[in-house]
Amino acid sequence: PGVSVEIVSEIDSTSSELMRRARDGNHAPVFLVAERQTAGRGRLGRDWQSAQDAQQPASLTFSLGLPLAPRDWSGLSLAVGVSVAESLDPSNAAGLGLKWPNDLWVGEHKLGGILIETALLQPDAAERYLVIGIGINIGPREAAGMRTPPAWLQQWRPQATPAQVLREIAVPLVENVQLFDARGFIPFAPRFAARDVLRGREVRLSDGTEGRCEGVGWGGELLVQTASGMKTITSAEVSVRPA
Ligand code: BTN
Repeated sequence: PGVSVEIVSEIDSTSSELMRRARDGNHAPVFLVAERQTAGRGRLGRDWQSAQDAQQPASLTFSLGLPLAPRDWSGLSLAVGVSVAESLDPSNAAGLGLKWPNDLWVGEHKLGGILIETALLQPDAAERYLVIGIGINIGPREAAGMRTPPAWLQQWRPQATPAQVLREIAVPLVENVQLFDARGFIPFAPRFAARDVLRGREVRLSDGTEGRCEGVGWGGELLVQTASGMKTITSAEVSVRPA
C-alpha cells in the first residue's frame, strides 16, 4: 500500500540507514531489506549479528520507515510484534509468542526482535518518521555469545526463505501500523494477550523488582504483582525466574 521495497546486499544497518535518510529530509515510506548487515543493532545498545557464513541461511533483516502521528506511541512495538506473529503463525499452531516488550519467542527461545526508533520531522511537530527494524532468524544460528539458544523459523517450516517471510509479513505490518496510528494499542491488547509468554510467570525486572506477571494493560504497559502491590512498568528488561 504505497510503500516501496528496496533490497541491498550489504549495509551497516537498515535502521541506521533510514534514520540517516530521515535526518537528510527523506521521509518516503520504504521497506529497506538487507541480505547482510555489518553493524546490525538491537535494543539497549546490543548488536544483532548477521550470519558470518554465506552457506548458512540468513536471518531476515529489514526496516520499515514511514511518517506517523499517533496520539500516543506507547504500545507500538507490541502492536508490531502482534502483526508479525499473526502473519507467521496465524492459528498459533507453532506457539509463536511475544515476550514484552518486543521479542518474538518460540518456547523459551528468541526467534526475532524488534527495534523502534523515530526521527523528528520538524521541531514540535506531532508527526515523526518511524523506523521499525525487524530481525527474524530463518535458518540455524550459532548460539555463541547469546544468553539463551535462539529459535529459527526453519525448525517448523524447513522451506522458509527470507524473501518469502517478508512477503508474508509486509502488507499486514503496514495495515497494522495504520490501525495503531488511528486507534492506538487498544485493538491490539487482546491480540497481544493471546500470545503473551510472560503472563502468569514469575519475573525479574532489570531494576531488581520481582513478582508475578499479570499481563499487559490497555496502554501496553507490563503489569507485575509484587509483594508491595501491583506495579505498572513502561520500560525495563524482563527475565523469567526459573520455577
Ligand atoms: C532486539 O532484539 O534487540 C532488536 C533486534 C532488531 C534487529 C533488526 S535487523 C534490521 C534492523 N536493523 C538493525 O540494525 N536492527 C534491526
